[in-house]
Amino acid sequence: MSGLAQVQSGNGQPTLSERADALEEHMMHELEHIVTKSVLFGMADGKVEMESGPALMAKNPGKYMLMGEDPRLPKMPDKPTLMDYFRCRFASTSHLLQSATHALKAGHNEKVILACLLHDIAVVSFIRCDHGYWGAQMIEPYVDEEVSWAVKAHQALRFFPDESVGYKYPELYVKFFGPDYQPEPYVVAEYARARNHRHYMTARLITLNDIYSFDPNAKVSLDDFTDIIGRNFKQPKEGLGLDNSPSAHMWRTMLWPSRFL
Ligand SMILES: [Fe+2]
Ligand SMILES: [Fe+2]
Repeated sequence: MSGLAQVQSGNGQPTLSERADALEEHMMHELEHIVTKSVLFGMADGKVEMESGPALMAKNPGKYMLMGEDPRLPKMPDKPTLMDYFRCRFASTSHLLQSATHALKAGHNEKVILACLLHDIAVVSFIRCDHGYWGAQMIEPYVDEEVSWAVKAHQALRFFPDESVGYKYPELYVKFFGPDYQPEPYVVAEYARARNHRHYMTARLITLNDIYSFDPNAKVSLDDFTDIIGRNFKQPKEGLGLDNSPSAHMWRTMLWPSRFL
């Protein structure tokens, strides 16, 4: 009997989510190794659960746990660069490239352009919640402190207008979160601190270039930023994630997101 036929809901038919789970399990059995999901991945499906190592071994006789690269994901080079993550691990790059292109055309300096290029990397590769903080931490060892600080602060600044530069509360946020949405107190406090910070304007410029209504036909390319990345992002010689920086583990997690440990 196939895995698909084994799961059934109360009325005898498998529910959609049971079928998805069964299909996933079926696919896992096709792989040479046992691929595991971190608890966080399951929480996004509303489940706080995990399977123990022995239970997984019992269900997959003769197989070992995956402790290296996931064959289902795009292959990364032995010494990955930021560009490789852009190409093989970022689910979408158009918003980042459009923001950075906008900043480039407006004549901003390279730190601002790099900050725009990297401002949402956590969203496109890692996690949405508190993406400014995660993104800043990921890049902190490799960029000027002004860039990582601005990436962190843009998350809070997005909720607060600054008429001095023509930044208004985004209409998109009204659509996304409703007209009555109020940012959490920690976001309000972050904004208050950022307002008086020496790099305030760098973060503010991210928000100004952080647009979703940019010309959809505009041609944007990562190649336009090769030199700016080269001059402003300290690529570790061992490969990004394989170095010993304080955030290397975060890049490794993107490299091998389904490793057992
Ligand atoms: Fe953002
Ligand atoms: Fe953004």
